[in-house]
Amino acid sequence: MAQPNIDQLTQDALEHYLFPLAKKEEMRADGPMIFVSAEGVEITDAAGKSYLDMMSTHTRASSLGYGDERIAKAIYDQLLVLHYAGTVANLADVTVRLAAKIAELAPGELSVTSFGSSGSEANEMAFKAAKQYHHFKGDKPRAFKIISRWNAYHGATMGALAATDYLGTRHITEPGVPGYSHIPAPTCYRCPFDRDYPDCGVACAKHLEAHIQHEGPEYIAAFIAEPVMQADGVQVPPSEYFSIVREICDRYDVLFIADEVITGFGRTGAWFAMEHWGIEADIMTTGKAMTSGYFPLAATTVSKEIADALPVFVHIQTYQGHPGGAAAALETIAIVEREDLIARARDHGAYFLDALKTLETLPIVGQVRGLGMWTCIDFTADKESRAPFADDTVKTIVRRMQELGVLGGEEGAAIEFAPSYTVSRAQLDKCVEIAGQAIREVTKERGLA
Ligand SMILES: Cc1ncc(COP(=O)(O)O)c(C=O)c1O
Repeated sequence: MAQPNIDQLTQDALEHYLFPLAKKEEMRADGPMIFVSAEGVEITDAAGKSYLDMMSTHTRASSLGYGDERIAKAIYDQLLVLHYAGTVANLADVTVRLAAKIAELAPGELSVTSFGSSGSEANEMAFKAAKQYHHFKGDKPRAFKIISRWNAYHGATMGALAATDYLGTRHITEPGVPGYSHIPAPTCYRCPFDRDYPDCGVACAKHLEAHIQHEGPEYIAAFIAEPVMQADGVQVPPSEYFSIVREICDRYDVLFIADEVITGFGRTGAWFAMEHWGIEADIMTTGKAMTSGYFPLAATTVSKEIADALPVFVHIQTYQGHPGGAAAALETIAIVEREDLIARARDHGAYFLDALKTLETLPIVGQVRGLGMWTCIDFTADKESRAPFADDTVKTIVRRMQELGVLGGEEGAAIEFAPSYTVSRAQLDKCVEIAGQAIREVTKERGLA
């Protein structure tokens, strides 16, 4: 393969590529990362440098790692046999098989699926399904409002964006879609009520009831939450959080949407994260790991009760349930089942979390937390007040790790790790070692100890 011209690629990217969320100034100063190949858990950039990718490709999608011929071949074979079948009543057999497989895997009554191409679209469908459920059922015909949470991330399209509060993406597009509001979230290391668990009584969950009453229960269609929130790193909620939320939703006939776009299909060491707390959502959205990033595919799965209440689901997109994506998902799921990768994510994740916890003694590490194959190091400028760094300390540590050959994710106050489920213990050990080295070096250079 001809060696890519890194300077030309960088120049072309700066001139011709509109970077999502990356600041132009930073792209000019540090350049984008342009990758050309990958294998297993390693990815190589255009300059020929290889990295241990501890983020499953930045967005956490590549859950089975790179270069998996089985998934690539499944897509190829499907595209040759039938690459596209249309929409409405036109379906490819492979798409039907995927919908049935999701029904088999999904918790409880979640058994009827519509497909999209992105997590954002999956959440748009979830909101539409919730509103149409109330409309057709007739008990709350004016229920159009959606309640979300502070710091939530649910996507970039206008409805999903209105439910989003993270990454500063919402405000510049406002006024957005009407009817969305947000309640405080279980970000316990920095509690929105400035309290400590368990003395807090999980006030953030109970606040949902006051908010529903304030907004008017008859106008509220659904409450949406990520089972584990990504903002500021892997926010694992208190164990009773979702049972409180579920009970409040039931009491006010508000549907509960679990956004499992990151957590679904194994990331937390269970097929779906809500299984950890034994709570069933009415609607579940998934994406990313469903195809291990080999094909853009996302899903909205509703309970049988919701599906039965809809005489028609008023929604259509050209590429929903694309056969190539369905083939990728079925093959990904088959590999996860055959190789018992959910158990591996759980066991290796616990090992990794224990190892990372040794870094909590470092002066700028506030908390290490995680669930399954999703962990983070939350940094603080002051262990007493738990204040996050106001400067670029976290970014600098991420960059230092990158220079040392390990990719982690900058996630607000934290650095996040979401490696492929196939990562080895030796690779996890390497990540802990490099993270420790980078943190110690930056701490020393900045006189933070
Ligand atoms: C929890 C969650 N929901 C929804 C989305 C939106 O997914 P997409 O970027 O595929 O539209 C994301 C994306 O990162 C996400 O993390």
